[in-house]
Amino acid sequence: MKVTLKTIAESIGISITTVSRVLSGHAKQYRINSNTENQIIRKAKELGYIPNQIARSLRIQRSNIIGLIIPDISNPFFASLARVIANEAHKKNYSIILSDTQEDIQLEIESINLLLSRKVDGVIICPTGNVDNYNHIEELIKTNLPIVVVDRHIPGLKCPFVISDNFRGAYEATKYLLNKNHQNIACIQGPPNTSVNDNRVNGFKKALNDKQIDFNDAIIIGDSFGERNGYVSAKMLLSKNPRPSAIFACSNLISLGAIRAIFEEGLKIPADISMISFDDQPYSEFLATPMTVVVQQTREMGQIGFKLLFARLSHGSPQSSEGVILPTKLVKRKSVIDFMYNIKIDDKKNNIRISESISN
Ligand code: RIB
Repeated sequence: MKVTLKTIAESIGISITTVSRVLSGHAKQYRINSNTENQIIRKAKELGYIPNQIARSLRIQRSNIIGLIIPDISNPFFASLARVIANEAHKKNYSIILSDTQEDIQLEIESINLLLSRKVDGVIICPTGNVDNYNHIEELIKTNLPIVVVDRHIPGLKCPFVISDNFRGAYEATKYLLNKNHQNIACIQGPPNTSVNDNRVNGFKKALNDKQIDFNDAIIIGDSFGERNGYVSAKMLLSKNPRPSAIFACSNLISLGAIRAIFEEGLKIPADISMISFDDQPYSEFLATPMTVVVQQTREMGQIGFKLLFARLSHGSPQSSEGVILPTKLVKRKSVIDFMYNIKIDDKKNNIRISESISN
């Protein structure tokens, strides 16, 4: 038998209104004495009463649910970001409806429509991020639902955002390679026309430019943040002559794919090729060659993202375009070595051979 408010009221001889006020947390507001309150709560537990959240949401015009849209739940970066946001939401008695758009704009549009139909109270979105195709996000913002963008900002969107300083992170990583005497550096990028990728590529280019290296000659290759892109791009780079002496990978999964390609070619990191990856991951320091990485503040990104949303949920503060840009940090491990040329004359054949002497 379905246990309702009426069941509870009749079983202890109290009005349905009093039962409803107690179970919706308003006993004090209506000055219901603690004995009655405890009696109702005990009886509800005893009968196994489960509140009808949909009816409650309609009544109070709030669902205590927020939508979280991310582009790839299989990517450790987004898994940890989603975990942080879910934890922060739980602390404030919010549940999450998580939607994985698989880096697909059509799925992103469908996710937005689903969340609107479920009457969520707000949305945190890490968009697929194409800066030429975001009308669906602008329409979402026009609904006046509280919205916050995390990680992949789209300039011009009228909503709060929290992102990493991708330009500076890539600049510092590339400068580190240049200071290790690498000149022939390749960049394996993610999806062009996303601000997160383009800022990383621009940071890479600026560092080359500051060292008077023409970035037009630099090899910038790739088109997605996935492992497959890293693998295929690295295979192409390793077939070049001369081979780049270093790779800057624009994401965690790109570098994983590149490592697989380098291993398949029988080459070693860093002896044959140095590498830096954007994104630290739990496995980065345990790889065969611990990876030098650009660390994003993923936890803080999730915490601030939820705080920005909660400010609107709880105080109804007006939609703003305030942005938080989190600095990244270069963590140096073992995947980069100094690259120097020594010219040695082979005393047997009197040949000139260029040998690369290396030192950490
Ligand atoms: O693959 C994950 C990457 O895409 C991360 O660098 C994160 O910034 C996201 O945009």
